[in-house]
Amino acid sequence: MSVQRRPVFPEFDPDEVSSNLSANRPFHEVAAARFSRRSVLASGAVAAAAGFLTGSTGTAQATPGPAPAEPTGRRPTLGFTPVPTSDADGITLPAGYEAQVIIPWGTPIRPGGPAWRKDASNSAADQAEQVGMNHDGMHFFPLGKGAEGSRRGMLVLNHEYIDQQLLFPDGDAEMTREKVAKALAAHGVSIVEIVRTDDRGWQVADSPRARRVTTDTPVTFSGPVGPRHPALRADGPPRGTINNCSHGVTPWGTYLACEENFNAYFGTERAGWEPTPEQARYGIDHEGFGYRWHEADPRFDIAVNPHEANRFGWVVEIDPMDPDAVPVKRTALGRIKHEGCVTTEARGRIVAYTGDDQDGDYLYKFVGEGTWRDQRARGRSPLDHGTLYVARFEDDGKGRWLPLTHGTGPLTRAGGWADQADVLLRTREAADALGATPMDRPEWIAVNPANQDVYCSLTNGSGRGGAANPRTPNPYGHIIRWRESRGDNTATTFTWDIFLLAGDPAYDERTDLSEDTRFGSPDGLWFDPDGRLWILTDVSNSSQNLPEKGYDRIGNNQMLAADPHTGEIRRFLTGPRGCEITGVITTPDQRTLFVNVQHPGEATPAWGEPTPGNPRAVSNWPDFDPEGRPRSATLAIRRTDGGVIGA
Ligand code: FEO
Ligand code: CA
Ligand code: CA
Repeated sequence: MSVQRRPVFPEFDPDEVSSNLSANRPFHEVAAARFSRRSVLASGAVAAAAGFLTGSTGTAQATPGPAPAEPTGRRPTLGFTPVPTSDADGITLPAGYEAQVIIPWGTPIRPGGPAWRKDASNSAADQAEQVGMNHDGMHFFPLGKGAEGSRRGMLVLNHEYIDQQLLFPDGDAEMTREKVAKALAAHGVSIVEIVRTDDRGWQVADSPRARRVTTDTPVTFSGPVGPRHPALRADGPPRGTINNCSHGVTPWGTYLACEENFNAYFGTERAGWEPTPEQARYGIDHEGFGYRWHEADPRFDIAVNPHEANRFGWVVEIDPMDPDAVPVKRTALGRIKHEGCVTTEARGRIVAYTGDDQDGDYLYKFVGEGTWRDQRARGRSPLDHGTLYVARFEDDGKGRWLPLTHGTGPLTRAGGWADQADVLLRTREAADALGATPMDRPEWIAVNPANQDVYCSLTNGSGRGGAANPRTPNPYGHIIRWRESRGDNTATTFTWDIFLLAGDPAYDERTDLSEDTRFGSPDGLWFDPDGRLWILTDVSNSSQNLPEKGYDRIGNNQMLAADPHTGEIRRFLTGPRGCEITGVITTPDQRTLFVNVQHPGEATPAWGEPTPGNPRAVSNWPDFDPEGRPRSATLAIRRTDGGVIGA
């Protein structure tokens, strides 16, 4: 996300400001010893020729990270002609590919629903029946087997945040209860059924399963912080999910929406109010994003209704096939600013990786108790019973998962921790106490299907680590990977390595990227079934296209594909102005790739500021209607020859 606060053109994004005041050794310092050795190698011809640190190069022998593994199944070949960077207000794709724009913000979730109004005059009730704003994490759940399952399915996607200048006809000069209600309805999750025909491409179908889960939808809690926990007692029953960034999918077919910057929706005008240490650790303050909802709705006044904030920061399980199923917040996965929640399976157990996206925060994993099939057979959720761990990266290339279990280590009553629920409600502080490693903004996590190695994009960071860190600060980000001991994702130890340092070689010779592959701020990461690693970028609008930030040659946000075994990388797509590229999934046959274009047209110093009088100041994608406004939307990308995407 690249949310604005007042003033419109910020010098930084809120995520880039750390609220971690613990003394834990930052990842930058831990990485320094490893980087310093590598940077010597990277300064020579080896890096220029190899482009990446890969398991098969001599450089890899200098670091004890995960060794390369033979892929299973098809090779993750990259068969397309890469596209150049672009600052145009449109989509660029390789020759032989075409994109269809589907489900832009405001699309009725069923045919015949309330129609989109291009002047933003749709009501809150309309918005609750329409696709939300700012599309983010996404999954395609096929309906039917074989070829049918690649022509029909439930597309489920998050709506991370809103742009009040574009959501309301009069912008956000005044906040009203109706505007808050519309804003709540524009957040959350959209569940739509889509069908592809040869003549019309992908279309929204009428469906009994279609629904919106918004910030107003009834929800419940499960796990150690149960629905009747006193910390969840606030004004009215618990409702909604918010700031849903990335996501996850369970082996039993449910969707996990993850609550990221929940803190930023709360504020107060009450004189003398100050956040508690617990609130401050989550970044709760007087104004948040500056949405000012608290002026019209006391639900979001943190001084009036402080426990409302305890209801957010969780992973939310949603059944995409049952429109009556109440979304459940799975509290055993902890309360952090969850970017996403990626699951895998090891020894029959569910393993869920989740990052806390703020500068200086941590990486977590949850390991289920017993096999997930046994848990479900006993009528229990596999996500309610297990152990939550936080990562500690040692500077010798090894790492440990530290259990966030009440009664162990410092997490005792004597240490000030009442019980496991207390540990989970204050997950960040518990991880501080354990000595977890502060990271440079953990974003998406992906598990390589070929060898179970885990990759995480660290989008950028303050670079407040030691002097040996060659990336101080680290405006371009990097991708780290680790291999769990014995290749068992339930293990409590691992080895790690840096997959790549992003950047523009014209500004930073330490980057692993070249003139042809330059990018910055990796965010989305996803392995397709062949093992291609797709990388989606979210350069914040406070940096995008700006020479003073070293981002003018990187262009608009983009999507690239990498072969994790050879290190080859190719740029696949560039997006319109002001957007980020996020959310990626294919149909089971890998012949349609769905990708989200989030927040085109957002205010950026490079292009300007949308206003009620001119919402098109930055972008008018995808409609290019002279009286319209930019809209987040999903791209359905296919090859003109019908082949596998990326191959
Ligand atoms: Fe919502 Fe961390 O990107
Ligand atoms: Ca981001
Ligand atoms: Ca993100």
